[in-house]
Amino acid sequence: MDTNTFAPEASQDAKALRVNGARLWQSLMDLAQIGGTAKGGVCRLALTDLDRQGRDLFSQWAREAGCTLRVDAIGNIFARRAGEDDSLPPVMTGSHIDTQPTGGKFDGNYGVLAGIEVLRTLNDAGIRTRAPLEVAVWTNEEGSRFVPVMMGSGVFVGAFTLEHALKAEDHEGTSVRDALRQIGYAGEAGAAHPVGAYFEAHIEQGPVLENNRKVIGVVQAALGQRWYDVTVQGMEAHAGPTPMELRKDALLAASELVREVNRIALERKPHARGTVGSMEVFPNSRNVIPGSVKFSVDLRAPDDEQLGGMDAAIRAACARVAQASGLKIGIEQVVYFPPQPFTPALVEAVRANAADLGYSAMDCVSGAGHDAVYVARVAPAAMIFVPCADGISHNEIEDAEPGHLEAGCNVLLRAMLASAGVAA
Ligand code: GLV
Ligand code: MN
Ligand code: MN
Repeated sequence: MDTNTFAPEASQDAKALRVNGARLWQSLMDLAQIGGTAKGGVCRLALTDLDRQGRDLFSQWAREAGCTLRVDAIGNIFARRAGEDDSLPPVMTGSHIDTQPTGGKFDGNYGVLAGIEVLRTLNDAGIRTRAPLEVAVWTNEEGSRFVPVMMGSGVFVGAFTLEHALKAEDHEGTSVRDALRQIGYAGEAGAAHPVGAYFEAHIEQGPVLENNRKVIGVVQAALGQRWYDVTVQGMEAHAGPTPMELRKDALLAASELVREVNRIALERKPHARGTVGSMEVFPNSRNVIPGSVKFSVDLRAPDDEQLGGMDAAIRAACARVAQASGLKIGIEQVVYFPPQPFTPALVEAVRANAADLGYSAMDCVSGAGHDAVYVARVAPAAMIFVPCADGISHNEIEDAEPGHLEAGCNVLLRAMLASAGVAA
């Protein structure tokens, strides 16, 4: 399989091919209507009815582009465009269409719709590939409603079991199993199919490309992550009569740990990250001393040893705060994946095709998790980043330039064609 720039035998027609940037943009805007927010963002949480509507629209577009569709048991959708030799493993692209509660129009959606645009472009030009092509919509990449994050791709590659994912529950106690059935996307069980090569286009979600005035990010690797659920058990009591020194205030102890998470990452500059993004306070009443608190911890690092050091540090901090406060503190790791390098030959294909197309490019590392991180465990994989405005993502104001999105999609088209081969 040729993974560099266009194979010399590729037809001149194919080499001259460019995606339709206006059509890609319009598809992004159309999909963003589903769950669109007043501030111009999108709230389309995984496996909600809005997610179903987004999936239905994707499926309609994929069918119109001549694809056959398959849904697996965790709800991943695979839209397949036949190749000349269908016994070859597909060259795949994709991403996710679930969003954060205050998400944007581009995170994930771009990678999926760039895939659709590649297929539409090939259809318009009447180009057939040797290997089949597939566009994947991975279930619950965001990890906002359900943990683990990157759930669909994680099951696909066997990072955790289907059963583990199906059992996950949201804050209301609805399981992934039930949510999949409710939206009609609980598909067939069965082994994951082989993937010949995987490319994922995504907005950078950070400021590096924009600051360096580059259009294409050639992604070398993604940070490793460890996520935890931390529970602090104190005791509810009246906010007035209970003297300060007699309290078992779970939120006070949790607050000390929030600072610890920040410190642990700051001590490992410049690449380590530490975030507490979610907290449940019980009973959450103004005049009751908090009796219990549950919160999330998200730690990231480019080096697995460093991430291990952060793991030891947060566990030690929990023990220290428990000892000092006399409260019970539990910490459970709910997500772990080590830093993931992408496949050198495919990374090189992204770089070479960006150069061939005349786009400015630079090497970068992904601070975010992506489905490509898991797919890289079972297939050659690479990512294509494009800038987003002010590097802001996971925010309703997330924005990207149509020309940059088009450029990333052209690189995707080239890289996929080079991997799949063009039929004679
Ligand atoms: C995925 O959005 C992540 O948290 O990296
Ligand atoms: Mn994403
Ligand atoms: Mn995201």
